Amino acid sequence: MKKILVTGGTGYIGSHTVVELLKNPDYSIDIIDNLSNSKEHVVDLIAEIAGKKPNFIKGDLLDFELLKSLFEKNDYDIIIHFAGLKAVGESVEKPLEYYENNIQSTINLLRLVRTDKPTDFIFSSSATVYGEQDSPKCVETMQTGTKLTNPYGRTKYFIEEILKDYANTNPNFCATILRYFNPVGAHPSGLLGEDPNGIPNNLMPVVMRTYTGEIPALNIFGDDYDTPDGTARRDYIHVVDLARGHIASLEHSKPGISIYNLGTGLPTSVKEIIAAFEEASGKKLNTNIAPRRSGDLPECWADPSKANAELGWHTELTIADAIRDTLNYLNKQ
Ligand code: NAD
Ligand code: UFG
Repeated sequence: MKKILVTGGTGYIGSHTVVELLKNPDYSIDIIDNLSNSKEHVVDLIAEIAGKKPNFIKGDLLDFELLKSLFEKNDYDIIIHFAGLKAVGESVEKPLEYYENNIQSTINLLRLVRTDKPTDFIFSSSATVYGEQDSPKCVETMQTGTKLTNPYGRTKYFIEEILKDYANTNPNFCATILRYFNPVGAHPSGLLGEDPNGIPNNLMPVVMRTYTGEIPALNIFGDDYDTPDGTARRDYIHVVDLARGHIASLEHSKPGISIYNLGTGLPTSVKEIIAAFEEASGKKLNTNIAPRRSGDLPECWADPSKANAELGWHTELTIADAIRDTLNYLNKQ
């Protein structure tokens, strides 16, 4: 049996990944989450899908004594670190909260990683670390950390650097940094999906709430970009494909630091997402053309060829699949 600690495992990406992990009978899973952006009920939903219930610890990664006692009781072979605050706008308002929560919690975990035996460590990083580049297609070899526009993005960049420094001190540390592009969609069962607390910032949750009428109209942030239809383009990846990327990473884990983009490699515009949602739902969404959002890039998508070649991982699901699963999730709420 391999013992796994999943931080942030009741969150959006974490919950989908735990479902995939539970397919392996040799994995025993503990989730730790402070429920600041998720609900404990998600543990039951995971159990309903997977037929097995992960162990849940309600706790904060900033509570070092709690973490220490958890590591004293459990010999973790694998740590998958999703926990973190992720709202870009909020990070500008509350930079210290973001630096403390995201960075200190990672340091607390690293302090408890054993040096006398291998530990696999997967970190949820983001395409945001690429900042502004000469080309919108991001490759892992590009210089990161320059022209980052917000504290959230900087926490991801700083944590990547901390992991690299730490890896130099522990030859048994097998770390994988996964740079996610734009996760969308829901579990096909309709039981798990993205359900952010408060006012959403990301496109798909805003689309969902415009569809349900909770938001009167969706603001399209800029239609004057130098893109085919004038709206910004991103790489939207189905959350189940993303979750599967973690399983592939674990199968190829090795000492030191490995970095992979997890994206489809295909750019899609804001208008294309809206049109696909309208077609699938049969309902026209209220939209306004609004000014560009500060800090937004015109275009950003992944070059996923390293993950394709080295991990044998490819995306299998489309945006149409993601929208179908999102609508199914919405209908079950
Ligand atoms: P999420 O908010 O749904 O999940 C994160 C979970 O971490 C939440 O359940 C929250 O309660 C928990 N958490 C936060 N701080 C904690 C702490 N100090 N102690 C314990 N639990 C804590 O977010 P998500 O979309 O599932 O994202 C998971 C990870 O992936 C995050 O690190 C995020 O920054 C990263 N990421 C997300 C996206 C995206 O668009 N969703 C893109 C790139 C990277
Ligand atoms: N958008 C709108 N209207 C909205 C919300 C978004 O037009 O109401 C547009 C944005 O301007 C952008 C696109 O939709 O052009 C996507 O925006 P998101 O906020 O969904 O995603 P971003 O690419 O801006 O950023 C997201 C996460 C970051 C992460 C990054 C890469 O918020 O944390 O993806 O993974 F770093």
